Amino acid sequence: MFIDTHCHLSLEYYDSIEDVILENRKNKIDKMILSGCSKKEIESSLQYIKTFDDVYATIGYHPDQVDKVNAEDMNLLEKLIMNNKKIVGIGEIGLDYHYTKENKEKQISLFKRQLSLAEKLHLPVVIHTRDATEDTINILKEYQLRGVIHCFSGSLETANIYLSLGYKLGIGGVVTFKNSKLGEVIRKVSLSDIVLETDSPYLSPEPLRGTINSSKNIPFIADKIAQLKGVKIEEVSKITLENTYNLFDLT
Ligand code: NI
Repeated sequence: MFIDTHCHLSLEYYDSIEDVILENRKNKIDKMILSGCSKKEIESSLQYIKTFDDVYATIGYHPDQVDKVNAEDMNLLEKLIMNNKKIVGIGEIGLDYHYTKENKEKQISLFKRQLSLAEKLHLPVVIHTRDATEDTINILKEYQLRGVIHCFSGSLETANIYLSLGYKLGIGGVVTFKNSKLGEVIRKVSLSDIVLETDSPYLSPEPLRGTINSSKNIPFIADKIAQLKGVKIEEVSKITLENTYNLFDLT
């Protein structure tokens, strides 16, 4: 059994959400955690967690939403989280300087408001960070939180900093890519530091790279991690499930 800790379900990519979920069940995907990170995606995530028993969500405002979020939206976020037990964390939230650094201050402010909310509600956070490692680390140091560094792809040194701050590494399709340096990091960290994710519909693992991804592809990622660690895939399944259950307080 596996849990996909980070995926997006969108009708732009899939003909039928129900089919995606049925396929997952056939492929040993026990649960999926949706990442609802725009107003539109939060709305659809709420609908799916209501409809499907094995679907959970984290919600929060992605840094690319920075110009679209006001105080009222922050209040709504809090209200939604408090009223729904299947919302198991806040995310994905963070910093993205890849396309622009010009709104850096606004991104930091939105990020911090959501980290404070997570602290207040005692919830884990899912962190999106791109070309912004230093600021992300410095900000996370100001909070007492737990969570996932979504789509981690940094150095061993960076991994160790996040781990020491209480975060897990979210590992997905990138680990299977031929030119990926992530394998070196995976060899050196412990399985207890990892949770599995697809970030579907994006980032399909090899040998499916370039196709539309879905949670059912998690076993390809787990298999690669098993090879890197020299353990059986069952061991990867067992430990990453434990990590996920504990982090997100799933039952
Ligand atoms: Ni995502």
